[in-house]
Amino acid sequence: MTRDFAGKTAIVTGSARGIGAAIAIHLGQRGANVLVNYTSDRSKEAADQVGSKVSNSGARAAVIQADVSKSEGREAMVQRALELSGSERKIDILVHNAAVGDDCGLADLSDELYDRINDTNIKGVAFLTKAVLPHIARNGRIVLMSSIFARQGNPLTCLYSASKASLEAFARVWATELGQKYGVTVNCVNPGPVATDMWFSTDKELLDAMQPTIEATPAAPRVGEVEDIAPIVGFLCSEESRWVTGNVICANGGMLFH
Ligand SMILES: NC(=O)c1ccc[n+]([C@@H]2O[C@H](COP(=O)([O-])OP(=O)(O)OC[C@H]3O[C@@H](n4cnc5c(N)ncnc54)[C@H](OP(=O)(O)O)[C@@H]3O)[C@@H](O)[C@H]2O)c1
Repeated sequence: MTRDFAGKTAIVTGSARGIGAAIAIHLGQRGANVLVNYTSDRSKEAADQVGSKVSNSGARAAVIQADVSKSEGREAMVQRALELSGSERKIDILVHNAAVGDDCGLADLSDELYDRINDTNIKGVAFLTKAVLPHIARNGRIVLMSSIFARQGNPLTCLYSASKASLEAFARVWATELGQKYGVTVNCVNPGPVATDMWFSTDKELLDAMQPTIEATPAAPRVGEVEDIAPIVGFLCSEESRWVTGNVICANGGMLFH
């Protein structure tokens, strides 16, 4: 793989497993130093393995247990990423991948769930971006992870879907607000179902409801694999994507394309 990210430093939130792990490994294989992040104790070993894969490909890696929904977690991530970048003390790539789902109907909504989803999926993204901005390199890249649920109206997903729609709005607003000032691009990737823990732990009612749509996916009758998504994020982090900003790239096999 071309090492076009050599010398760049990336933060990938929620990268112990699933899509985030594939993104971290992909960026590392292209030469980026990667800060691998997770939050729960059970993911320590998985996160260390992702870090080893990045280091084995010749780039530097650091692994941090930090909660994106908490200011101290976000600040720790920024400081660790700056250390990882060495004497340059800058962050080139910020991939907002960490998120939690809900599977909750409106009737069962609780304050606690509302705060958990929004603090992780929206507040974490907004405030981590704010914390990274003073250190972002010119020609930097910010990538946000949306979902087809942002636009499909699937039942039992109101908080998650709304949080993902917020990220598509962030991409459009920040592309304009931050673009020239910081020399960055800001884009979203919009996956459909992807074979990860998050998808397989989805409520059975929702999984059953999605099955006909999965079978009708234009590109192939299957759910996505993490390897379908990571190179799209890689493209949005690359020099070749310099004229793409404020955009949402639909990486969902054509399940949704507008
Ligand atoms: N899988 C799908 O079908 C699908 C479809 C569309 C979009 N997406 C989006 O793609 C992204 C990744 O999804 P996935 O399926 O790979 O998820 P996943 O398998 O559930 O992994 C989520 C990762 O995020 C981390 N995380 C969760 N809360 C965090 C917090 N507060 N602070 C830091 N890290 C946190 C988790 O850490 P721990 O390992 O410590 O728990 C984990 O590493 C998400 O943004 C999701 O919305 C997924």
